[in-house]
Amino acid sequence: MSMRKVKLGIVGCGWGSRDLYGSFFRYLENGELVAAADADEKSARAYQEQTGCKRIYTDLGSLLKDKEVEAVMVLTPPSVHCKQVEQIAEAGKHVYCEKPMAITVEEADEMTSACRKNKVKLQIAFMKRFNPSFLLCKKLIEEGRLGDVFEMRAIWDNARAYASAENYRHRLPGGGYLQEDGSHPLDVCRWWMGEVKEVSGNAMLVMSDRIENDDVACVIMKHKSGAMSTLHITMLTHRRGLESYEVFGTKGTLLMEWPYHSTHTLEPAIIKLYEKSSKVTDLTLSTSWSPQKEMEKSWQYLNELRYFCGCVINNREPSVTGKDGRAVVEIVNAAYLSSQKGIKVKLPLEKSPDITKFFKELRKSSKWKIGKDLWGSRY
Ligand SMILES: NC(=O)c1ccc[n+]([C@@H]2O[C@H](COP(=O)([O-])OP(=O)(O)OC[C@H]3O[C@@H](n4cnc5c(N)ncnc54)[C@H](O)[C@@H]3O)[C@@H](O)[C@H]2O)c1
Repeated sequence: MSMRKVKLGIVGCGWGSRDLYGSFFRYLENGELVAAADADEKSARAYQEQTGCKRIYTDLGSLLKDKEVEAVMVLTPPSVHCKQVEQIAEAGKHVYCEKPMAITVEEADEMTSACRKNKVKLQIAFMKRFNPSFLLCKKLIEEGRLGDVFEMRAIWDNARAYASAENYRHRLPGGGYLQEDGSHPLDVCRWWMGEVKEVSGNAMLVMSDRIENDDVACVIMKHKSGAMSTLHITMLTHRRGLESYEVFGTKGTLLMEWPYHSTHTLEPAIIKLYEKSSKVTDLTLSTSWSPQKEMEKSWQYLNELRYFCGCVINNREPSVTGKDGRAVVEIVNAAYLSSQKGIKVKLPLEKSPDITKFFKELRKSSKWKIGKDLWGSRY
């Protein structure tokens, strides 16, 4: 069956666009990348070479004048998401925006209302919600295989001692590792355990001689259901990395562990269900023999883009939208506020704290430096 293809544009042709989406558009049955824009012309040109898109631009305004473009993927740094999403919505084009949705809850609110006002769709790209292993865990929880769920622990560790303030992630005005990578496991906690009502957090800066925001954090969330979840996150493990999720219920404990990290891999997670401390069921998904087939079927970024294009074609509201993006921005900001003031923060948070001030204080009071003997691993 031939399918209509949504004509996509992309703004921001950096690492994410290149490595996570760039080679995969050819497998997107219901979408086509027609144009790309980057403030850096060289990056835009390299992206055209990689993807074969018809046209390139050096600013979003010109991309938006391209009549063929119906929807725009936003892969720029989060500090410009708000302004760009508003511009895209005002041009009447649908929006697919990478996480973190924005830096502040005020920005997230403006983005949602701009999309609503201009009647365009807004999907926030939390790709784990389109990953087969994550979807299986969600299903097990929903089907009641764990009984009543009361606790969840997420761990996200990386070896990134090489990080520097040259990368937007590690410099002001934004938050650091908790905002950037932490958005993913925080979204998983909320997706699996429900809305969050209270947040406490501690953010730290160890590499005070290299970066401007946070590199280590711990967040405790109280959910509306009464359940509790925690995230431990660091850039400074001497292991290669670790991403794991453990969910505790009255009838079972579910463990999901990634061989290194889920972001770059087609390998499924190891998923085990423990019951009554005696029975263990291995629920790890199997994969196809062909990496190519596996990629076409399971590559999480491709699946989420397929889903988005389907929403545009069938005029459906995306299931992962501004509400979900904002909720994570809110948790991140509440954790920073909690850390700054030494308090528990009740949600909703109508206003974000002055995080620039917080990170300046954090840097000044940091007890650590990393020095020149750096290490790191891409998982
Ligand atoms: N879901 C994931 O797993 C995942 C992975 C990587 C990145 N991301 C997200 O994608 C976004 C981009 O991250 P990245 O690592 O690709 O960043 P990057 O710094 O590698 O690339 C950003 C690109 O945007 C361009 N740019 C900056 N400001 C611009 C502007 N005003 N107009 C046009 N172009 C502009 C830069 O020149 C650069 O090429 C972030 O929101 C990030 O969190 C998500």
